Amino acid sequence: MKQPDLSPRLLAIAHHVKPCHTVADIGTDHAYIPIWLTLNGIVQHAIAADVKKGPIQRAKANIASYDLSQHIETRLGDGLAVLAPDEAQGVIIAGMGGILTCALLQASQAVLKTTQQLILQPMQAQEEVRKWLFDNAWHITQEMLVKEGDKRYHIIVARQGLITITNALIQIEIGEKLLNDPFFGEYMQAKMTEFEKIMTQLQGIRTAHAVLRRTALQAQLRAYQEVLKEWRNT
Ligand SMILES: C[S@@+](CC[C@H](N)C(=O)[O-])C[C@H]1O[C@@H](n2cnc3c(N)ncnc32)[C@H](O)[C@@H]1O
Repeated sequence: MKQPDLSPRLLAIAHHVKPCHTVADIGTDHAYIPIWLTLNGIVQHAIAADVKKGPIQRAKANIASYDLSQHIETRLGDGLAVLAPDEAQGVIIAGMGGILTCALLQASQAVLKTTQQLILQPMQAQEEVRKWLFDNAWHITQEMLVKEGDKRYHIIVARQGLITITNALIQIEIGEKLLNDPFFGEYMQAKMTEFEKIMTQLQGIRTAHAVLRRTALQAQLRAYQEVLKEWRNT
């Protein structure tokens, strides 16, 4: 099968896209990332978008040369404004400055509500991107540097869900760094068993304190279950 010869930077971006139905590549230019993702079965459908006509023509020609016009559509427009909510589960923004990346994300909050993964490769101002993600309840699950010649590129992968439900829980109670620990799953299970044990002991006790404690434990248990589920899917 003919494949585009991706540079290390583009290949690293593509490798960080989790399988999903539709991915949107904003500022696609050549459309090599959507082409590679579609050819390799990572996505069934892709939207290759760019604000300029030249890149869109280039993208169209490349998509046609891989016979993928049925699977990848091109859209001309500004940032994520080309997307409707619910259309793409993954969004890639690569090769733009960090400030512009944040501005595009900020302008399309409604679209992002239904996006599950962001794969960002800001050329500069990476700290602005991290800050935007933190402020907007996105959780950075991975960040890496890719070398191409003497240049280094940042790739930032963020997912929705984990931080929105359990921001305080992860940051304060569980400890964010433990998410990378091989014993994390085991530790979380042990904590949940502990909660269940206390809840059983409190069953039938009708004092206000016991009822409140049981309700709090129930919420805590649900939050831990949510974190564990998300962690297993990451
Ligand atoms: C340096 S190229 C990066 C191409 C490709 N994403 C990559 O990483 O190799 C940046 C592309 O982003 C497009 N672009 C710039 N501003 C944009 C915007 N507001 N919305 C969509 N695309 C934009 C440019 O036209 C250009 O094709």
